[in-house]
Amino acid sequence: MKKIRIMTVFGTRPEAIKMAPLVKLMRQNRYIETVVCVTAQHREMLDQVLGLFDIVPDYDLDIMQDRQTLTDITVRALKGLEGVINKVKPDMLLVHGDTTTTFAGSLAGFYQHVKVGHVEAGLRTFDRYSPFPEEINRRLTGVMADMHFAPTSGAKANLIREGVPEKAIVITGNTVIDALMQVVNSRYSFTHLPLKDIDFHSKRVILLTCHRRENMGAPMAQIFQAVRDLAESYRDIEVVYPVHRNPAVVDAAHSVLGGRERIHLIEPLDYLPFANLINRCYMVLTDSGGIQEEAPSLGKPVLVLREVTERPEAVQAGTVKLAGVNRADVFRAASQLIENGNLYKSMAEAVNPYGDGKASHRIVDALLYYHGINRTLPEDFMAKAPERPADI
Ligand code: UD1
Ligand code: UDP
Repeated sequence: MKKIRIMTVFGTRPEAIKMAPLVKLMRQNRYIETVVCVTAQHREMLDQVLGLFDIVPDYDLDIMQDRQTLTDITVRALKGLEGVINKVKPDMLLVHGDTTTTFAGSLAGFYQHVKVGHVEAGLRTFDRYSPFPEEINRRLTGVMADMHFAPTSGAKANLIREGVPEKAIVITGNTVIDALMQVVNSRYSFTHLPLKDIDFHSKRVILLTCHRRENMGAPMAQIFQAVRDLAESYRDIEVVYPVHRNPAVVDAAHSVLGGRERIHLIEPLDYLPFANLINRCYMVLTDSGGIQEEAPSLGKPVLVLREVTERPEAVQAGTVKLAGVNRADVFRAASQLIENGNLYKSMAEAVNPYGDGKASHRIVDALLYYHGINRTLPEDFMAKAPERPADI
């Protein structure tokens, strides 16, 4: 029996987290031969995830450079992928989300006439510069892709509006929930400082992450000032900020938040402690995409440090609020949650609009259908809220 050869391409931490459950499942499937190619647009932050999920890439382009530009990533990934695709000759190439690896991966597949499947397809803010360059990366990938794995019905609707044929779209849920369910455990204990020593009962821990390109400069400084104001105003809060390795972010974070009481600037955490930190914290302040999906599933209020989001489902459900990037706005939104118990309670309602932990199964089933092995497409994922992952 000739297996379907599926080549997955990813390069950054979030892509790796969200592709890992799928790679593992494809590896167990007797109809699929899985080839993993990483661009390594991220190095250490990618390797942390590969290690956790026990994935050894078949090809590693190792493209990351310090302070790389978008052009650097695009050119180096495109060139490297050309050679790998020529060698592997996959039946289909799978990319994820909206990074520059995603865009270069789908373009490389298109140039070689290889069919492209887009995981986490259809997210949109409709603002081409926010997030930058992700909004355009995902739109361009949507134009090149042959199969679209949309996490939600809203994402599918966006694709339909752009002219994608309905039969090329499956609503799968987001694979991040598959990953989250594999790592979150209420009995997890932290092994490293400062988390090991924080009393999560008497302290309210605010988990902060901030890394987006469009937030660099003035918006990031304003956000960090708001966080400093919060730590100065409330004695029972502790801020934990695993700082992204981008040197521009490291510099900005340390210059405003370094050496401050009750603010812990730490290295990026491995996914296992990080996911469990979301589960244990009081609330989340973030400009991350993935964390907007994870935290609502764990019943944690999220203030999004952006003007727009491509993830409206949790905003509609009420667990996520757009706080913007202005010092006073961020401070006000966080203070309200700290001071108003009823507001906190209403936002801390666990909802799971992003998945039920079976997204990877649906994607594998859809791949088998498109390649003539399964007779039917999997049923679309339908969000049921409120709901908590069963094993948490
Ligand atoms: C990238 C993605 C963004 C995604 C984010 C997830 C693009 C354009 N951006 O942004 O969509 O949300 O990853 O984190 O695709 N660095 C290290 N070690 C690492 C990772 C990064 O040192 O493991 C440093 C390097 O100096 C690198 C810089 O961070 O040049 C920026 O990395 P890059 O991938 O270009 O941008 P991110 O902000 O990480
Ligand atoms: N994450 C992690 N360690 C950290 C910070 C984040 O493992 O120190 C995980 C997080 O749980 C989520 C993903 O990384 O699954 C999000 O990555 P990031 O915020 O870098 O990218 P985005 O989702 O914004 O593209």
